[in-house]
Amino acid sequence: MDDGDRSRGRMAKHGRRGEDVGRFRIGILNGDYIGPEIMAEAVKVLGAVGEKYGHQFDLVYLEASGEAYDKYGEHLPQVTLKRAAECDALLKGPFGGPPEELHHPKWANVEKAAILPLRKYFNLYTNLRQTRVLPALEALTPVKADVVHGVDVLIVRELTSGIYFGPKQTRMVDGERESSDVEAYRESEIRRIALKAFEYARHRRGKLTLVAKSNVLESSVLWREVTETVAREYADVRLDYLHVDNAAMQLILNPRQFDVLLTNNIFGDILSDEASVLSGSIGLFPSASLGDSHFGLYEPIHGSAPSIAGQNIANPISAILSVALMLRYSLECLAEANGIEQAVEVVLDEGYRTVDLVPPGAQAGGAVGTREMGDRIVRAVRSA
Ligand code: IPM
Ligand code: MG
Repeated sequence: MDDGDRSRGRMAKHGRRGEDVGRFRIGILNGDYIGPEIMAEAVKVLGAVGEKYGHQFDLVYLEASGEAYDKYGEHLPQVTLKRAAECDALLKGPFGGPPEELHHPKWANVEKAAILPLRKYFNLYTNLRQTRVLPALEALTPVKADVVHGVDVLIVRELTSGIYFGPKQTRMVDGERESSDVEAYRESEIRRIALKAFEYARHRRGKLTLVAKSNVLESSVLWREVTETVAREYADVRLDYLHVDNAAMQLILNPRQFDVLLTNNIFGDILSDEASVLSGSIGLFPSASLGDSHFGLYEPIHGSAPSIAGQNIANPISAILSVALMLRYSLECLAEANGIEQAVEVVLDEGYRTVDLVPPGAQAGGAVGTREMGDRIVRAVRSA
């Protein structure tokens, strides 16, 4: 069985297209530090959606990262992968430990031992990271409010290849260490994600910007060639191209020019953090990781924030909006997905803020906690 086949066939057993319409099996990977706190709120919101729209969500808690290390001595045990493969979709909290303990085997290499292999195992090569600047939060941006007004950028990041997955080595050369990581892409890997990006652009504002570094990198030249070939199948989408350094600058200077950005693994990692800043807080952003089937992995783009864990102050919106993406992309429950996104906007419009959403210099005293924010959003989902 190849990677691609692992994620096929489940929908027929439990999902929309099968005999059990409206019944879904959802794998929950709580993650570390603030992970369980924000995931609890996401699960509450999912429960409210189930009640309101008449779906049954069977939750399967799966161990990974710190929790799995404590129990099995490894970060992504086979049993977790096996049970994850029986789910329609996975909701994941952030993985990772505190900076001062990164040498500890519990936290060293969590990224390479759990996050990257999880994406690879299910062949989730398309990562969607959307930055929308909500009117209620424009004041939070460190960039000028009139520059970010109305921004809606979708970054389509390649997620299972490139320099994060290429051969790595450290060897002795002339008596000193030399380390290397290889950026390698096959045409088929570029083509399959380019097709996805053109599809998203076609259903949005019809503009696609490829971001690479083709003045220096051979792999970027291939990205341009393959993407230009795919563009011939999409006469309705305007394709343009930016070098990544320029794209990083343009994202701050004039982010409204962008609709869909298509890029490789490493550039997408960097640019998506940058883009999230436009909106004021990384605590707002979910992501979707998809392959060739409906199965997907949904997770916040931020880390596990050990310094604020256990205090009921983390922003649960990134996890709650991950639920919305899961409903949209894996379960094809569009009204339900829109319902959650609207509920989040309603609660923000009403003025409720977690501390990360309080502008610098303003009174943080009125901020709501993690659980209160979750409860407000649950109420808004119910009453929509
Ligand atoms: C992200 C993270 C991960 C990545 C790390 C933790 C491996 O930064 O999801 O953006 O680079 O993909
Ligand atoms: Mg990142």
